[in-house]
Amino acid sequence: MQKKIMIMPSLLAGDFGNLEASARKAEACGADALHMDIMDAHFVPNLSMGPDVVRMARRCLGIPLNVHLMMTHPHLYVRAFIEAGASTLLIHVEAQCDIRATLRQIRDLGAAPGLAINPETPVSALFPWLDEIGEALFMTVHPGFGGQEFMGEVVPSIAGLCRRLAGPGGARFQALDIAVDGGINLRTVEAAAAAGANAFVAGNALYTARDMARDAALMRSGAAAAFGRDVFPAA
Ligand code: DX5
Ligand code: ZN
Repeated sequence: MQKKIMIMPSLLAGDFGNLEASARKAEACGADALHMDIMDAHFVPNLSMGPDVVRMARRCLGIPLNVHLMMTHPHLYVRAFIEAGASTLLIHVEAQCDIRATLRQIRDLGAAPGLAINPETPVSALFPWLDEIGEALFMTVHPGFGGQEFMGEVVPSIAGLCRRLAGPGGARFQALDIAVDGGINLRTVEAAAAAGANAFVAGNALYTARDMARDAALMRSGAAAAFGRDVFPAA
């Protein structure tokens, strides 16, 4: 099954002296959504942005906002981020909250729920929640900071989820977007896409590119060419 390839620049790698310009640049460069990293200095050892930055992006952009909560207690902030304009709201499967109740609250408040998973968490942790989510996001670095190296050891987990979706009873989950986040560039995008990822968060690789629009297009075409190659090889 060919899915829509989605390129999502991460605003964390934007210019914090002018986040509005960085957000607008992502849209102008053909992004499918803007990825926004929310850190609580507890789930991860860093602080980043809050609902006001999401509100700014919602006011400036026409594309969806893909908001990634790296928070220990995300349920306390779901309403604030959706009211600010999040289109998709991702919580971590490792968070300390009632996962089902929080995913349902996200849907009830009008956003698309997603689940993110850390590199060392077994992919099977996602399986009980596949009925509740529209996006699964694999961290391909330890969350907390941009600019880290892609962790190739996560690739088998991505393929594992794809096999689960292709297996018995998986048909109803086939529209699930499978995203990767961390160290994605024009080279690593291929390994992630070959394993079955169709959505790509890229911070530094895109925001430091000499020509962001050109590299976003190359990332898209590279991903499309590699998509599913290693999990569903042509017969
Ligand atoms: C890391 C964040 C990522 C980060 C990716 O905790 O979740 O979204 O911005 O940045 P790069 O692409 O620079 O690794
Ligand atoms: Zn992220």
